[in-house]
Amino acid sequence: MKKIFAIGALLLASVAMSAQPQLTKDNIDDVLNAMTLEEKATLLVGSGWGSMTAGSMTASATALVPGAAGTTRAIERLGVTQAVLADGPAGLRISPTRDNDPDTYYCTGFPVGTVMASMWDPALVKELTTAMGNEVLEYGTDVLLAPGMNLHRNPLCGRNFEYFSEDPFLTGKTAAAYINGVQSNGVGVSVKHYAVNNQEVNRMQNDSRVSQRVLRELYLKGFEIAVKEADPWTVMSSYNQLNGEFTQQSYDLLTTILRDEWGFDGIVMTDWGTKEGTVKAVKAGNDLMEPGAQVEIDRIIAAVKAGEITQEELDRNVRNMLEYIVITPRFNKYKYSNKPDLKAHAELVRKAAPEGMVLLENNGALPMKNVKKVALYGTGSYDFIAGGTGSGNVNKPYIRNVAEGLTVNGLEVNKNIQTWYEQYIALAKTNLRNNGSGSGVLLGDPVISEMEVSREFIEKMEPATDIAIFTLSRNAGEGGDRYALDGDWTITGQERQLIQNLADVYHAAGKKFVVVLNIGGTIETASWKHIPDAILLAWTPGQEGGYAVADVLCGNAYPSGKLPMTFPVNYLDIPSSANFPYNYKDVQSGAWDFLWGGPQRQTKNVDYTEYAEGIYVGYRYFQTAGVPVSYPFGHGKSY
Ligand code: BGC
Repeated sequence: MKKIFAIGALLLASVAMSAQPQLTKDNIDDVLNAMTLEEKATLLVGSGWGSMTAGSMTASATALVPGAAGTTRAIERLGVTQAVLADGPAGLRISPTRDNDPDTYYCTGFPVGTVMASMWDPALVKELTTAMGNEVLEYGTDVLLAPGMNLHRNPLCGRNFEYFSEDPFLTGKTAAAYINGVQSNGVGVSVKHYAVNNQEVNRMQNDSRVSQRVLRELYLKGFEIAVKEADPWTVMSSYNQLNGEFTQQSYDLLTTILRDEWGFDGIVMTDWGTKEGTVKAVKAGNDLMEPGAQVEIDRIIAAVKAGEITQEELDRNVRNMLEYIVITPRFNKYKYSNKPDLKAHAELVRKAAPEGMVLLENNGALPMKNVKKVALYGTGSYDFIAGGTGSGNVNKPYIRNVAEGLTVNGLEVNKNIQTWYEQYIALAKTNLRNNGSGSGVLLGDPVISEMEVSREFIEKMEPATDIAIFTLSRNAGEGGDRYALDGDWTITGQERQLIQNLADVYHAAGKKFVVVLNIGGTIETASWKHIPDAILLAWTPGQEGGYAVADVLCGNAYPSGKLPMTFPVNYLDIPSSANFPYNYKDVQSGAWDFLWGGPQRQTKNVDYTEYAEGIYVGYRYFQTAGVPVSYPFGHGKSY
């Protein structure tokens, strides 16, 4: 009797098991109906910082793809798999090495967003991001957290290099090409940071105050084009507030505009941080909280029980999540190789980068003719900046510098100068590591400040060389804005002196002098641009940067970029400079703690930023007001 009872119980249990639907593309409703409240809440919240174990941190054995930014949670009972999300935008950002694993997982360092926009060539952008998306797929990742498409409202925004342009149309078109390329691989993107996230200072809390007209015409326009033309799988809601409401909690932004007006049918996920208003975010149409915390699950459950979140609202978001999960490669058991063709992608980057390099000036110096021996100055010549810092940094296998590039193009780099720089850079890097600032993978490529070079030294080197080249470098990244000061937006006295001395000495000998700008955003050029014979704006064009620069200098590639933003004469000429937190760090005795939230204050440009310039961003202002610029939007020479 007992035995029969036990068999019966077993049978019942297996019937119950088999009655549990296993998620497929065709039974989303069944799965939704079978889910408990707890499971639904779980699906709306990412699996936490632990899923990340990013960059320099030790790769956790449990992480699906170590170094990825986050994952969604699985519900095994119903066959709901996890999805892996990783940065973006200059390539895939995952840990390059793993514990107890001899293999490496480097990703190609592609040209940054600003370089892609400088190409004005959607087909080429798509070609690049098709290769990028292939790495996303082959490394077992489902979504690339990119492109970054906030407008260059002000040149000091620390993340402008990740973004495209001061112009919403160019931004939208470049983004659409970017998205189409990545997604052609059957993986997704997350268009970010939606919206009006145009400064890094206090980015978690700052309130962007913008009129409806300006929102529609400028700050939302690029997103609108991207959504309508490229159908991104996901959108990332930003950290900041917009007109007093967190964007990730704005029904207007996430549902009325994004879905109802533009027809977006993917999921919205938050940028990486836990905020108080989880309930409001769910109701607004923010489907996924990233990176996710238990407290958010608890809040959702409690709010559904209390009737604050309706069943309909909950199910709407859960359905979005299920519809998204069934299209991910991981759900579809894609057998990724962990072996994308990095060599082919590197070749593509080298070929494409010159298309985004802007020849600002050329007084007959380029392409170089009758040049064999090069006097190569500037730390960036030997320690090239491939991309910006922060989550936009890619763990690339190497970075080609200008010295290597000139050598492979058959030229001779003066050894005395090279050795001196290399020793200086090695020492500077050791110092950086020793004081703890140069080690983290998150940090990315640091700029080594310029070396003191005397006029006597230049004079001594000149007879043995045919031309002088100076690479001037800047870098910036997530978590901080740039300064309108020497060494950042303006050049230092030391750099100015070096430019002048190089020009004087080489011109006196009837030889040319060229400046290469290895920078992620605009700098001051008006006061010194007449000194060199040519200025090549190389930007931060990815891991093959030094090769691509040399290809251009030697005439084996053509500089074809056009500026996607204005280079003003003075920083204060820019209307938004009246409402941007420039130089704030100095005023605040170097403290950056307000970046991550902090006591409630109402400090201009730190807690709220008035977009008082309205539509007068970039060329819209300079052209209308007739204010002279150093280089206009769209400027760029070629051979
Ligand atoms: C950044 C995002 C990034 C995310 C995940 C955030 O701090 O703002 O752009 O995708 O981290 O790394």
